[in-house]
Amino acid sequence: MRHASRAFAAVAALSALAAAPAACRAPAPATGAAAGAFGAPAIPERRAASFPEEWRFSPGEGGATFAPHAMVASNSALASAAGVEIMKAGGNAVDAAVATGFALAVTLPGAGNLGGGGFSVIRMADGRTATIDYRETAPLAATRDMYLRPGVAPDASVTGPLASGVPGSVAGLTAAQARFGRLPLARVMAPAIRLAEEGFAAESSLMLGLRRDSARFARYPSSVAAFFPGGSAPAYRARFRQPDLARTLRRIADRGAPGFYEGETATLVEAEMKRDGGIITREDLARYRPVWRDALVVPYRGYTLITMPPVSSGGTTIAETLNILETYDTLPPFGSAAYTHLLGSAYQRAFVDRNSKLGDPAFVRVPLAELTSKAYARRLRATIEPARYTPTRALPQTAAGNEKSETTHYSVVDADGNAVATTTTLNNGFGSAVTVGGAGFLLNDEMDDFAARPGQPNMFGLIEGGQNEIAPGKRMLSSMSPTIVLDPRGGLLLVVGAAGGPTIITGTSQVILNVVDHRMSLADAMRAPRVHHQALPDSLVVERTGLRPAVRDSLAAMGYHFLERDALVNVNAVMRVRGGWEGMHEPRSFGGAVGY
Ligand code: DON
Repeated sequence: MRHASRAFAAVAALSALAAAPAACRAPAPATGAAAGAFGAPAIPERRAASFPEEWRFSPGEGGATFAPHAMVASNSALASAAGVEIMKAGGNAVDAAVATGFALAVTLPGAGNLGGGGFSVIRMADGRTATIDYRETAPLAATRDMYLRPGVAPDASVTGPLASGVPGSVAGLTAAQARFGRLPLARVMAPAIRLAEEGFAAESSLMLGLRRDSARFARYPSSVAAFFPGGSAPAYRARFRQPDLARTLRRIADRGAPGFYEGETATLVEAEMKRDGGIITREDLARYRPVWRDALVVPYRGYTLITMPPVSSGGTTIAETLNILETYDTLPPFGSAAYTHLLGSAYQRAFVDRNSKLGDPAFVRVPLAELTSKAYARRLRATIEPARYTPTRALPQTAAGNEKSETTHYSVVDADGNAVATTTTLNNGFGSAVTVGGAGFLLNDEMDDFAARPGQPNMFGLIEGGQNEIAPGKRMLSSMSPTIVLDPRGGLLLVVGAAGGPTIITGTSQVILNVVDHRMSLADAMRAPRVHHQALPDSLVVERTGLRPAVRDSLAAMGYHFLERDALVNVNAVMRVRGGWEGMHEPRSFGGAVGY
């Protein structure tokens, strides 16, 4: 959690500087029983939320961006605007999501990427659903114990060329666009190419992020050359151009995925690897394929979640958590000790399974049907004592750990009601800190998401078992949780997902619970204080001032230990409301929701 919390502290500091979203702002319209936009079915009224007195956000009016037709919410207002530009040019939500994704690789290089991977959940207005997994794979030369060998630097799974898995983003985004998009790829990529070629006024997030990570970058001359023009990070609002990246984007726009996985880009990646002990080869790149997977469909109190199956743990762990909570007819009030106890206990149990039973289904057996069944949830619920905390070691678990933070999420809805939820990552902020010389993009440090050192916590404090050990060609377990929620009549309600390592799972599901169970507006659902439990460390992670003192005392009396963070999770979401859509970027961070 150390790195993640440092990132969050920076993120919290940034929120004050973040530019306001560009689209029209209107007082948050209530989602009402009479909602009839696009013939959409009615959804229940929102209720007023109540937060602790000291909490940094007040509930109530405002906060989200409203637009009647379409919406993109992401961690960069410029990238959201790129998505809207493409929809106005005739593209659908998939074209817009891909445009936003490539634009994020330019405007948010700490997280948006060409050199990482991710997942997209797609739901077309005609009812078709699909998910695409473009998670990185371990290079062919990777071995289970590669980070345990004598002489290998202790941070080799996080910083430097050995930290990178084979990138998947370009393969995934182009495959999604080819299958569901309407426009030519080159048109969809035009805004990103323009932003890289002509430059853009550096956002505060970029400037501060680069300054924060400058020591890591200093080790890699190609990174210094790409991101510290003239020797320093771009000043706030200074024009930041990325000519090498623009050329890489043009090669992709011209040739599709082969423009990245073959030819000049592949040559440049291999050369970068050879400079400093990396192991990704041209063969690794040529063999990379994204995987279309059946969505994990989770019924919850009449609503339906469409979410990501393994190799992301996100959908499975959210399903397990919500299934446990569904065994209670109604949930206790938001913010109460009883609610926080149920929520923390459900997460704790779901994470025991996540950490020990999930991995790449091409390599290990994943008991997905059992873990996501309502019957299994009832068995887990029986282990929750109403007024007492159960330490993680007392829960039945397999041998997690005994055998052998930068991400970004964007949510897109178009005027026809097609929707895309995409989360991509480089893992740590600016990934491995290695930029591919001459190609202008950073490589990920996703190898740390394997159980790289079995039994030891990874950068997010997760302790995982052999299911997630390294093997050539294997995908590392992820927590990314892009999710689309349908209302009880099957209408599109919410498009949501997050950044933040394992807190992605808890943050995404809490926004869903806030909307579905607590009937909050989107803005309140996002502003509400969050909690997190990942089984180990055996503590409830809370946001500073997010629990009322009396609630905290009650939980402590039940046996809870707390870890406190300035901010938890970076969520970007779009929700249907009367007459259109609300979009909101994470109020604890930076970004923009743009619509029309
Ligand atoms: O796939 C995962 O679960 C992690 N690589 C995500 C990392 C992350 O969210 C860091 N960001 N803020």
